[in-house]
Amino acid sequence: MPTDQTITGLDIGTATTRCLVGCATDAGLEVLASAVRPSAGVFRGEIVDFDACAGVLRACLEEAAAAAEAPIAEVFGAVPNAQCRGLNSRGCIPITRPEREVTPQDVVKVMRAAGNIALPNDRVALHKIRGTFAVDDHHGVVQPAGMGGSRLEAEVHVVTGASTSVENLRRCVERAGCQVEHLVAQALAAALASLTEAERQAGVLGVNLGAGTTGCVLYAKDTLRFTRCLPVGGDHVTSDLAAGWGIPFEEAERIKREWDEVGGDGPDSVEAQGASGESLRLSIHRGRAVMRARVEETFEIVRRELAREGLEQVPASVVLSGQGALLHRVAARAAEVFGVPCRTATRCAPTGAKGAPAGPGWATAIGLALYGCERRAQVASGEDGGGPGGLAGRLWAWLKDF
Ligand SMILES: Nc1ncnc2c1ncn2[C@@H]1O[C@H](COP(=O)(O)OP(=O)(O)OP(=O)(O)O)[C@@H](O)[C@H]1O
Ligand SMILES: [Mg+2]
Repeated sequence: MPTDQTITGLDIGTATTRCLVGCATDAGLEVLASAVRPSAGVFRGEIVDFDACAGVLRACLEEAAAAAEAPIAEVFGAVPNAQCRGLNSRGCIPITRPEREVTPQDVVKVMRAAGNIALPNDRVALHKIRGTFAVDDHHGVVQPAGMGGSRLEAEVHVVTGASTSVENLRRCVERAGCQVEHLVAQALAAALASLTEAERQAGVLGVNLGAGTTGCVLYAKDTLRFTRCLPVGGDHVTSDLAAGWGIPFEEAERIKREWDEVGGDGPDSVEAQGASGESLRLSIHRGRAVMRARVEETFEIVRRELAREGLEQVPASVVLSGQGALLHRVAARAAEVFGVPCRTATRCAPTGAKGAPAGPGWATAIGLALYGCERRAQVASGEDGGGPGGLAGRLWAWLKDF
């Protein structure tokens, strides 16, 4: 397949690098190939060793290109959670024409006004996402063009990232022999693949549990209201277990991943190897308490962040993605802390991604490829951001930059 027809999502995680190659079809994204490698040179989502990271990227990209039988020249990349932050910004313009009708040009103008925020030199705007409008005192308007009024207000959700991280990400991909076609905030890419339209309408908190980061997005009435990240993830659970039991990190990681077998409702102790290879029997009860404390603390921080924005009552449900969502009973913990039902996105892409690999860890890579499909379609149709388009217009409509 020619390289300009394939779409590649590249997710450089703290623990794992995932690459997904697909192509756009009338039915949506069709996945051609995927490759996965343990990451190197990444700490809490940040590249800290250029050569090591680029080496893994190169290997991953080569493997995916060989499997897809198509060279990879450009990728859609994810900007790590740790650097991204969203804020809601408002703009207002008067409608002074005698007929007082809001035109499509007014809509673009007011969105630009709302998104036109001053950022410090070390931050860059990654996304400016359309929210709702108000025409005079009529709030919550989705499409104001054609309405009558004298004042048009818009709300825009601006997601920013650290300039240095964004720059380093680009350079690292280039070092691995590719170009970056477009960058997407990691939490948004994961949300794109894991949340359904009904969930976004009802109000949903999407939480991506990675190894070194936890990325969160909140949608209410299909509008993005909140993007945040915590520099804490599944690795912290493992570190806590290792410290609590006095065993090496790798051994704690093994037990954590096998928890359903070793720590379920069965035995009250588990066998492990100590730092010098000695055989140990560890208390399951203690391990369970340690995991529970860390997971609850993480969700509590998210809840407090939502409360600070006045949004803690909004979610009607929680959806977990990221491979950290495989942790034993983590969805039950989330349901307890947030007081709403919680599910794990074990098979991502509600809008369809034929042949996509299963598992919540693939959410970001699949989301990047879905984003890529929509973006290519938008560029091809010459859209200026006015209305939804592309092969899955509704999908694009809720994550569209202008
Ligand atoms: N079966 C499992 N049970 C519990 N936890 C698991 C399991 N498999 C993987 N994990 C945890 O998932 C985490 C890795 O998730 P993921 O691959 O989504 O992270 P990442 O994308 O590399 O990191 P980040 O997004 O933070 O940069 C690790 O902490 C790992 O311990
Ligand atoms: Mg990740």
